[in-house]
Order: sequence, then C-alpha cells, then structure tokens
Amino acid sequence: MSALWDDPAQHPGWPATLAHGEVELHPLRRSDADAWSRLRRENEAWLAPWEPTAQADWAARHTPQVYRAMRRAADRRARLGSSLPFAVRHRGRLVGQVTVDNVVRGALRSAHLGYWIDRGAAGQGVASLAVALVCDHAFGPVGLHRLQADVRPENGPSRRLVQRLGFREEGLFRGYLDIDGDWRDHVGHALLSTDLPGSVLARWRQSAPS
Ligand SMILES: CC(C)(COP(=O)(O)OP(=O)(O)OC[C@H]1O[C@@H](n2cnc3c(N)ncnc32)[C@H](O)[C@@H]1OP(=O)(O)O)[C@@H](O)C(=O)NCCC(=O)NCCS
Repeated sequence: MSALWDDPAQHPGWPATLAHGEVELHPLRRSDADAWSRLRRENEAWLAPWEPTAQADWAARHTPQVYRAMRRAADRRARLGSSLPFAVRHRGRLVGQVTVDNVVRGALRSAHLGYWIDRGAAGQGVASLAVALVCDHAFGPVGLHRLQADVRPENGPSRRLVQRLGFREEGLFRGYLDIDGDWRDHVGHALLSTDLPGSVLARWRQSAPS
C-alpha cells in the first residue's frame, strides 16, 4: 500500500469520469474553453465574493486563452498526483468545476475541496451530487482518508452543501485566505473516509428534499 503512495508519479484514480443521473464529471477538456469563458463571465457577481484576490479584472481572467493555460497547469498537477481537477456537466452542459487539490499522501492522505456552479444550475442538488461523487472517488480509488472544505462563514449555500454531505465543522481559521480583496476568516469542515456508514452518494440521496 505505501509503495504506491511513496511514489509521487503515481496517482491512483486519475484520470476518471464519474456520473450519476444527469450529472457527469470528467477531466477538463480543451473543447470547453469558449463555454467556460462565457459561463465564468456571466457569473462574475455570483462567484467573485468567494474567489482568490487577483490584480487583473474578471473579464481578463476568464478568456478562452486563460482557460487553456489553466487547464495545462491543472493537467500537470493532476499527472503529478497533487490534484484532481473535474469539470461538471448537467444534462451535457458545462455548469461548473469540482477540484480536489493539495493532495498529500504518506500518513496524512488528505486533500482540500473546491467547487463552484453556474447560478442557473444552483438550488437543484447538482453541486452537492457532484461533490458527493468526487468524495466517494477520493475515498475509494484515490485512497484518501480526509477531505477538507474551508468555507467563509457568510457563504450559506456552501456551508449547507458540506453539512448536507456529512462534513463536520472543525473550527474557525482567522484571516485564512486572501479572497475578494482581503484576508477572510474561514470555517474548516472535514469528512473522513470512516465518518459515514455508507457512501457519500447514499448520504446525498437521503438529503434530497421530499
Ligand atoms: C456553493 C454552491 C456550489 C452551492 O450550490 P447549490 O446549488 O446551492 O448546492 P446543492 O447542489 O447542495 O443544492 C442545494 C439546494 O438545492 C435544493 N435541492 C433541490 N433538489 C435537491 C436534491 N435532489 N438534493 C439536494 N438538494 C436539492 C436544496 O433544497 C438546496 O437548497 P437550499 O440551499 O436553499 O437549502 C454555489 O452556491 C456556488 O457555486 N457558489 C459560488 C461559488 C462558491 O461559493 N464556491 C464554494 C466556495 S467555499
């Protein structure tokens, strides 16, 4: 077991395609450059409060060229085993991303989760389904033990998403990340591979509003 994880060139569980119902996740595609650029530009007001601080304006950071460079960098990190960068499709349409980042192996076997979804696709359980599929994959074929999601206290939808999937709140990190122009507090949430009696997908199914 440890022989695999001691080798940084090994990345069990990548590349992967995950699917359930109308939601599919796959590695970032070159052909999504225009769709990604359009989606991100349309969603500026929705996404900007939760995004890292940057010098360039939103439009300049979301061109098809930027997507191509971001995708190449994400691919490199994925090949090295430090990241799993997924695109999310709903009914075939690109609607967001879920990224497992900062993968650390050895005795820790932990990573951080990041996610966003198109405002038009929010409020339907698509994002939490996508994150649930990624969690099961990360705890299964990828072999991780702990997934951490750091969420600004004022980000209600994101806090509800992680709680819905069984993540537990672990504490407040003061001035933790440089987001939207300042150092912002974040609430740390984590899910361990041993926390739930069944899969994260099963937990998502139970959480669906009746
Ligand atoms: C965070 C974010 C991904 C959450 O998206 P979301 O669509 O609200 O999340 P979910 O997929 O869990 O959907 C939950 C909502 O769908 C509803 N829903 C409908 N059908 C559902 C189903 N089958 N299963 C679960 N929820 C369902 C729920 O009632 C819930 O509504 P509520 O939040 O008003 O209670 C989204 O708000 C976003 O992209 N925000 C901007 C970027 C961001 O904040 N990223 C995270 C930074 S930490």
